Amino acid sequence: MYMQVETRTGSFLHLKRSPGIRSWSLLVGILSIGLAAAYYSGDNLGWKFFYVTGCLFVAVQNLEDWEEALFDKNTGKVILKTFNLYRKILTVSRACHEQVVVGLKDIQDVNVIEEKVRYFGKGYTVILRFATGFSHPLTQSAVMGHRSIKKNRVHHESQRKWLKISLLGSSGLLASLLLWSFLNGDDGVTEVLAHHNEILQNRFIEVICSEDYDSHKRFEGCTPRKCGRGITDIVITREEAEQLRRVAEKGLSLGGSEGGASILDLHSGALSFGKHFVNLYRYFGAKIQDIFSEEDFQLYRDVRQKIQHTIGQAFDINISSMYLTKPTFFSRINSTEAKTTHDEYWHPHIDKITYGSFDYTSLLYLSDYMKDFGGGRFVFMEEGVNKTVEPRAGRVSFFTSGSENLHRVEKVHWGTRYAITISFTCNPDHGIGDPADL
Ligand SMILES: *[C@@H]1O[C@H](CO)[C@@H](O)[C@H](O)[C@H]1NC(C)=O
Ligand SMILES: *[C@@H]1O[C@H](CO)[C@@H](O)[C@H](O)[C@H]1NC(C)=O
Ligand SMILES: *[C@@H]1O[C@H](CO)[C@@H](O)[C@H](O)[C@H]1NC(C)=O
Repeated sequence: MYMQVETRTGSFLHLKRSPGIRSWSLLVGILSIGLAAAYYSGDNLGWKFFYVTGCLFVAVQNLEDWEEALFDKNTGKVILKTFNLYRKILTVSRACHEQVVVGLKDIQDVNVIEEKVRYFGKGYTVILRFATGFSHPLTQSAVMGHRSIKKNRVHHESQRKWLKISLLGSSGLLASLLLWSFLNGDDGVTEVLAHHNEILQNRFIEVICSEDYDSHKRFEGCTPRKCGRGITDIVITREEAEQLRRVAEKGLSLGGSEGGASILDLHSGALSFGKHFVNLYRYFGAKIQDIFSEEDFQLYRDVRQKIQHTIGQAFDINISSMYLTKPTFFSRINSTEAKTTHDEYWHPHIDKITYGSFDYTSLLYLSDYMKDFGGGRFVFMEEGVNKTVEPRAGRVSFFTSGSENLHRVEKVHWGTRYAITISFTCNPDHGIGDPADL
């Protein structure tokens, strides 16, 4: 940009230049990219900070210099100053305030060239040549080819106007971006019950029981009198979760849905296959022992038992009065579009209504939200607020199965999400055994 006349008297001339509109809009633009990246990414604070500072650095690097030239006849001096914000930030010193003082009488020559400037009308380019042989371009960014420096009073008003427009435009864009994400974010008012990178000991949130249990036979000492949700990361280790995930991968590699959601039920043998299900045990017969080892089944039983204990403790019930029930299954979800209604896992539902026999539902996550997949968070839906559980390998989330725990799973946007749903009933007639019993 051009230098502006700050003060002019008979003996004193002060010229000044600040970074122009283009410079500032670029700064705002690049910075918005950093802010948006930080806002949308699910990464931790360190990365968010990195995005913002990274973009800030790039933006500041692109910023033009501040320049000043003071011609003082009284002292016979010319003071030339430049200030660069980037160097200032980088060196955290005052050294970036470069200042050259030369005698006024040392100026041998001043070249002034009038030229047409796009959008701003006429401008003047000025170069100072000193007796010492040193020549100073008043606006370095304008030194291209041999066309030297620019100076002066270009339509100040129009420049201001453009600056205002560009700043308003950028902030408007940023504001609408934030507003848009606020309105269209698939979560609306969301509270995170369990963050993916925290390790929860035992989190329990009590909620008032719904009346769903009244329409079923009650089993004293098991049917929920206290309802709620619990989350724990210390019951199942990440190693156990990884091993179970390998079991799931092995089993699901034998089939899999055409849509994005596949299940494997080791109890009944049900396995997604294209648009349908097959019975793994009938299909593979005795060969199933080549696929799953006794160790796999043992791990499955251990994990199921630990989860049952956890639920018993949280709800104060004797675990011998609650029974494993069906369906209890592995799930694998990726972002492939649904082909049949079996693939539509994301609808809000109530387990007690969907499955009848369920009294306590639990989920064990076998992969990590934001590392293995995006989307796919578990959401408890309440009046006025949604509460999410972000999956994490080894995390157990459990809850009473009635309407007090209406929930859904968000669509998976990328990657693959593995989990296992383990359900319990109070009705012994609906109980099932562990897979190896089959
Ligand atoms: C909760 O989530 C559902 C589905 O994503 C959405 O329709 C609803 O508006 C959300 N509720 C609130 C209070 O944010
Ligand atoms: C749980 O129930 C079983 C069978 O009904 C009983 O033998 C056991 O003592 C009970 N345990 C506790 C801690 O109450
Ligand atoms: C989802 O999984 C299926 C089965 O493994 C695979 O064919 C498909 O390509 C996957 N989709 C994506 C988007 O990765």
